[in-house]
Amino acid sequence: MPDVFNFTFNDIPNLEGKVAIVTGGNSGLGEVVSRELACKGCKVYIASRSRTRAEAAIARIKTSIGTDENLVFFELDLETMRGAVAAAESFLKLESRLDILVANAGLGGIKSELTPDGFERTFGVNHLGHFAFVTTVLPLVIRTADDNVDSQVRIVIMTSKSYEKSSPIDFEDVKTTYHSKFAFFTLQDLLRRYARSKLANIYFMRELADLVKERKNIYVNACHPGLVYTNIFDLSTSPLPWYMRYIGERQAKWFGVNVNDGAKPALFLAADRRVIENDVKGALIYPGPTDGFIYFSNIYIRKINQLGMDVQSRKKLWQFSENALKKALESCSEC
Ligand SMILES: NC(=O)c1ccc[n+]([C@@H]2O[C@H](COP(=O)([O-])OP(=O)(O)OC[C@H]3O[C@@H](n4cnc5c(N)ncnc54)[C@H](OP(=O)(O)O)[C@@H]3O)[C@@H](O)[C@H]2O)c1
Repeated sequence: MPDVFNFTFNDIPNLEGKVAIVTGGNSGLGEVVSRELACKGCKVYIASRSRTRAEAAIARIKTSIGTDENLVFFELDLETMRGAVAAAESFLKLESRLDILVANAGLGGIKSELTPDGFERTFGVNHLGHFAFVTTVLPLVIRTADDNVDSQVRIVIMTSKSYEKSSPIDFEDVKTTYHSKFAFFTLQDLLRRYARSKLANIYFMRELADLVKERKNIYVNACHPGLVYTNIFDLSTSPLPWYMRYIGERQAKWFGVNVNDGAKPALFLAADRRVIENDVKGALIYPGPTDGFIYFSNIYIRKINQLGMDVQSRKKLWQFSENALKKALESCSEC
């Protein structure tokens, strides 16, 4: 297998007849992924918690590619597992196939708060909401692969190289919030929570890949987009003091790559034929050779670190997420 893949949008093949869903498709990286898939003829569901923001994204894409005929707004809020399951169930009624699932939505830099399910919000949205949504639509992904043996089905999980900074997941701590009057500790906690949620994304991807490994034509992988200046760096609702917010935003603005380049790792995994030719599965993709500033359109497979490869930890996370989901659904049996 080559170490480095050179990828441009021209490498995306014709995708007519295929169906994709992109979570967080209304903004930043998700919007570019949606645009490029739609531009190649794929029917793309822009999964967003806001119709207004999704329709604004669809209008921007139309201006860029000249049509919006392949783009559909799909309501999805990942804040609660029950909501994510309900959305997934409605998707199952809408479509009889799902070829490309990009679990891209995510947040960081937010206040330390709990979701209605009782989990720290970054973990709740970035991991648990996606766990609930993806596992509910998974039977459709599998059916698509089984019914179309000549086609390839892809699941792409958007993680971050921040996962490398995470310590092992403490399953009691994910139910707590943290507040400090010292900006330094607030910043450390914010970075720690984000890194943990991105480690959870790696575990989720690895376990999903394992779950579908009997299917030769399902490709589950994760990627880091590089440092990209998007709305995720709008730190106006973060608990950080103004000067830290300023430094965070400027760092991304000055040193980040543009959003088109940032979307390339996800698009490579979602559509490039070399994923199939090289049987790329359960892998983590980074852009290269630098993380930001200068970008050479290269993509490479990054070795997942020891913690990310820990099988016991990822199985524990899966079990924990299943239990959390069961509890969330039971607690609202009469809603
Ligand atoms: N930008 C970077 O440098 C960078 C680096 C590494 C990894 N990433 C990852 O890349 C992914 C995309 O981020 P981005 O940079 O493109 O930022 P972005 O422009 O802020 O996009 C994030 C998307 O997630 C959506 N989202 C947030 N909370 C949600 C919820 N509760 N339910 C449904 N959707 C929700 C946002 O929707 P709203 O518009 O409604 O808020 C938005 O569409 C994230 O997973 C992020 O962790 C980004």
